[in-house]
Amino acid sequence: MNEEAKKKLLRMIPHALYILTCKCEGKVAASTVSWVTQASFHPPLVVVGLKKETHTFEVVRHAQGFVLNFLGSGQKDLAQKFFKHVGPEGNLLGGEVFQDSPVLKHPIFPKMAGFIECRIIAMVEKGDHAVVVAEVLEAECGPLEGPLLISTTGWNYGG
Ligand SMILES: Cc1cc2nc3c(=O)[nH]c(=O)nc-3n(C[C@H](O)[C@H](O)[C@H](O)COP(=O)(O)O)c2cc1C
Repeated sequence: MNEEAKKKLLRMIPHALYILTCKCEGKVAASTVSWVTQASFHPPLVVVGLKKETHTFEVVRHAQGFVLNFLGSGQKDLAQKFFKHVGPEGNLLGGEVFQDSPVLKHPIFPKMAGFIECRIIAMVEKGDHAVVVAEVLEAECGPLEGPLLISTTGWNYGG
């Protein structure tokens, strides 16, 4: 394997940034994620690479669902807050007001580009991230313009 080429090319796969949230049996999870893509029109499916051995993965696996909150193109500061574990404080997550999503009741942030509610239909656990396949059950646009592309931030996740 040419490690340098693998790293360079895998980092060329374009990604945006999202805050993945989940709430289940009193536990709340929120992580910034980038490994997201659409994978089917009918039904509408998305695929997310979710790091195993994290609080977020544990809560999501239990809930069998999650919300992807789409960051606005200027919300780099908010993305940065969820690179590490953040717990809820009242109705705040990372200092941002959150509320329940309409169908699955996972946290959503009103001041973003929007959100999709997803129900997990399959999971492949072969690597350090689980490949999570999920059906989009509901979607709502927010007041901000997105996406926040990882290529505009100077950050990398991949390779
Ligand atoms: C730029 C960047 C992109 C990331 N993308 C992902 C991702 O696609 N999937 C993932 O599971 N974690 C990703 N992470 C790591 C999570 O943000 C991190 O594991 C999470 O905040 C852990 O929170 P928890 O301990 O509350 O579960 C990324 C981190 C960075 C810095």
